[in-house]
Amino acid sequence: MTVSPLAQHAAPRSPIRGPALPVGLAVAALGMLFSIASTPVPSSSAADALPEPVAVAQVPAVQLDAAEAADPCADPAVQQAIADGDDAATIAGFGGGAAFREAVVAGNAPCISLTDPARVWVVVNKSLPLDPSDYEPPALDAVPLQMTTLSGRVRPDVAAAVGAMAEAASAAGIGRIGANNGYRSYGLQVSTYDSHVRDQGQDRADAGSARPGYSEHQTGLALDVVACDAGCGGLDSFGGTGQGQWVAEHAWEYGFIVRYEESGTAVTGYGAEPWHLRYVGADLARAYHEGGFHTLEAFFGLPAAPDYAH
Ligand code: DAL
Ligand code: ZN
Repeated sequence: MTVSPLAQHAAPRSPIRGPALPVGLAVAALGMLFSIASTPVPSSSAADALPEPVAVAQVPAVQLDAAEAADPCADPAVQQAIADGDDAATIAGFGGGAAFREAVVAGNAPCISLTDPARVWVVVNKSLPLDPSDYEPPALDAVPLQMTTLSGRVRPDVAAAVGAMAEAASAAGIGRIGANNGYRSYGLQVSTYDSHVRDQGQDRADAGSARPGYSEHQTGLALDVVACDAGCGGLDSFGGTGQGQWVAEHAWEYGFIVRYEESGTAVTGYGAEPWHLRYVGADLARAYHEGGFHTLEAFFGLPAAPDYAH
């Protein structure tokens, strides 16, 4: 598919707004409700993420002190990292990717906003649109891969990571990896989504293309990769290529997750997209992989978001 960038502010802002979330989603909010009376319990799966409520009277004072001391948001190193916009240092301050996830799920991370579009941990889905809806990343670099469209930019950290990933695939004899779309502005998402609706009808379009203001591509953190041998293939064939299989196994080593897996359709509302890589940074990608997660919603203990509210 060839694309032509449109004016970024051509379309009206979406009337749909996501809830203001410091971490504020249902499970996390429940965790916060319990947090005074309980010690957050690290968990290895989203299903057992809720802390067990414990009566205050049963909690020895020494445990309360320990819980306070363990408040990651009170750590000056975390506060400095957040002020600096240094996501890797913030995650390190929490004790690494798994500990970061556990703190968020337990409601023990009020300084972390899962809806800040500039952070590697942002969650964008059909219930959580970008805020503002016409968000633009502060910096974009060229994707250092052969491109099959004109949408060839991503955030600088993402460009470096996907370049390293493609070099590793090539060095392993897997073949070349190219890219289709990187960053898409709000305006480009308008034309992309509209063309899917025209071609396929709204229901099928909604299973494969985000509505404007709801796409990870608008954060600069996502890109669609393709297999290039003599020429480059398309998106639909990618999953069946050697590059596609290699990406499914190794993308996490470079900070990416395959955001839309077939097993996640009931949660994300999108069909399988083995080509759509979402950068979350090396620490969170490792925790995602090692924790056996298949959706970002499960990873952060968020509700499924298969449908739009409107
Ligand atoms: N294809 C993905 C869901 C997007 O449009 O962002
Ligand atoms: Zn994509």
